[in-house]
Amino acid sequence: MNPSTLHPSSFRSIIAALGLAGAALAPAAQAATPAELLSGYTAQAGSPAVPARGQQLFTTRQGREWSCASCHGAVPIPTGRHASTGKSISAMAPAFNPTRFTDAAKTEKWFRRNCNDVMSRECTPAEKADVLSWLLTLKP
Ligand code: HEC
Repeated sequence: MNPSTLHPSSFRSIIAALGLAGAALAPAAQAATPAELLSGYTAQAGSPAVPARGQQLFTTRQGREWSCASCHGAVPIPTGRHASTGKSISAMAPAFNPTRFTDAAKTEKWFRRNCNDVMSRECTPAEKADVLSWLLTLKP
């Protein structure tokens, strides 16, 4: 069917149907872009992300044995290496690894686990926004 023959109201119902389908799928699929995750964290934080603060958090120890960089590398462009298992961890910066920060559930799970390992607490939305905004500044 040629879309130009559709009455505008049919368009509206198609768009409404797509919107509903998207909303229904969202909890299962959680597909996202790094930019969407960043704007979500920034909205929760209520203030703009500061990339330099994210870099600082990522590369310094927070009272425990490890920093984020211990496993991910200080400049998480190339592959990192797990500080205890020695397993390789693929690049964290989205420009070097297109699968990064595209699955909200995965991102949240690892933020929770890793922040606890490094800081003995979860990261705040502002800290997540800072780290992600810094990772987004890293370009080939
Ligand atoms: C003990 C090793 C280790 C440390 C320390 C560590 N991570 Fe991770 N991190 C991992 C592993 C393993 C994965 C999952 C494997 C993968 O995604 O490649 C991961 C994945 C992630 C992800 C998922 C990214 C995505 O694909 O969406 C985020 C976010 C993350 N880490 C943030 C951090 C932050 C922030 C810190 C410091 C507070 C940190 N990590 C410290 C090992 C570590």
